[in-house]
Amino acid sequence: MAPLRILVVASEVVGFAKTGGLADVTGSLPRALAERGHEVVVVMPYYRAVRFGKNPPEATAHVLHVPIGSRTLACRLFQSKLPGTEVTIYFVDAPEYFDRDDGYHGRGLYQQTMPGGYKSDYPDNAERFAFFSRAALEVIPTLRFQPDIVHANDWQTGLVPAYLSEFRANPKYANIRSLFTIHNIAYQGMFGADVMRMTGLPGWMFNPKQLEYHGQLNFLKAGVVFADAVNTVSPTYAREIQTAEYGCGMEGLLVENKEKLSGIVNGVDYDVWNPSLDPLLPKRYDASNVFERKPASKAELQKRFGLPVDPAKPVLGLVARLVSQKGIDLILSSAPGFLDLGCQLIFLGDGDREFHDQLQNFHAKHPQQVGIYLGFQEQLAHLVEAGSDLFLMPSRYEPSGLNQLYSLKYGTPPVVRATGGLADTIVNANEANLANGTGTGFSFNEYTPSALYETVKWALLLYRERPKDFQQVVLTAMRQDWSWDRSSADYEALYRRLVG
Ligand code: ADP
Ligand code: GLC
Repeated sequence: MAPLRILVVASEVVGFAKTGGLADVTGSLPRALAERGHEVVVVMPYYRAVRFGKNPPEATAHVLHVPIGSRTLACRLFQSKLPGTEVTIYFVDAPEYFDRDDGYHGRGLYQQTMPGGYKSDYPDNAERFAFFSRAALEVIPTLRFQPDIVHANDWQTGLVPAYLSEFRANPKYANIRSLFTIHNIAYQGMFGADVMRMTGLPGWMFNPKQLEYHGQLNFLKAGVVFADAVNTVSPTYAREIQTAEYGCGMEGLLVENKEKLSGIVNGVDYDVWNPSLDPLLPKRYDASNVFERKPASKAELQKRFGLPVDPAKPVLGLVARLVSQKGIDLILSSAPGFLDLGCQLIFLGDGDREFHDQLQNFHAKHPQQVGIYLGFQEQLAHLVEAGSDLFLMPSRYEPSGLNQLYSLKYGTPPVVRATGGLADTIVNANEANLANGTGTGFSFNEYTPSALYETVKWALLLYRERPKDFQQVVLTAMRQDWSWDRSSADYEALYRRLVG
């Protein structure tokens, strides 16, 4: 079959700018697609973080002319390759939108830090990402790259399918199909109706069947309505978001559009997240020597977080955006119980001020048992994956989740709430699944501190009193294959259905 040409549009890509798993996906799916023979081009904003990052791009001779509001901005394209690949990534340079102080790392891509440490969305986010979505389509004639598919991701690029539907009268855009991927439905990009004019989209699109949601302009809704297909990042989440409990107000729209909605679990880049290759670990390991060599990572982790280096103390680790999605409140409520069970707790996270404060206080009370790093630190994330005995991920909701997949590979069984992608990827090591050898982690259903506590208690019972069983879980976890092989084939099949 003929290779496809795919333009991936994203607001973050790992290696250049990242706040979470979205960047991991947009940095690794394109490579998997390229390995399947397709021609993939990625486009993202030229943030300050990109300019001063570890892979600074170079300027090209291409200049885009992008209408926004009453102006047309001229902006240069920069270019680079996705690290370790031949996939070209272009950066749209619009300093007034993307060259910002806060834009170095973490959530500064979308938020600014206010006096007192609170974070708040940039007031011009609508304009920044309407501009970027419009610019991404301008890349097509400018580069003379004629894609079969434009693949947009999350609300920041939700207007891409809307612009595309507007441009279809132009032969350059007439045959392009669009896919919109929802990585997280809680972030929708909702703005006042006055923003509509700035987008340059026709005013008649502002109605409840299209761009309007209760009087507001909703970027995510635009993506769902105008894309030829919509997917989310696990089959369970695709079902969940059609319910009021998980749909964040979009459930009705998604039920209406369910014929074009599907779920594909994210893949892992095992060149980056792999304990047998990982340069960030004191000793690399694989399933054949995990029990001899993994303890070196644990000792290093305890040391780095200022905790007593004690191989006998179970370490519970967390790496997460500190937002309510991730179940931080559950962890904080059950944490004193974990300490009574003799655990050490390690938190690596960046996010909402309230969680920073609570974790800081908890650490101050128990400096010998609780280690924290409040910030975004990619290297440390690898060490937490490797050095912990259990990985905590009791999410309130989880579209796909990558961290639990990383922890499987690192032989650190995850403790998860069975929701979204966590339900689709983790097999609970209860007695039945221990007996049949399929357990890969520990899961519970109820979103309550006691459910989390009881699950950790069970995991620790295995860890301490039934080490053979615990080791079996570790080895089964490490054997799981969540590489992009299967998921990139699913994306290819979806693209081909659209192209027809
Ligand atoms: P989400 O996208 O909802 O944040 P995922 O599990 O899909 O959740 O992906 C999270 C990604 O972000 C992982 O690569 C994880 O290592 C990384 N990450 C999250 N918080 C931090 C942090 N404070 N420092 C370094 N990496 C982090
Ligand atoms: C979102 C979700 C996470 C998912 C990631 C990449 O940030 O919260 O579950 O893994 O996107 O798709």
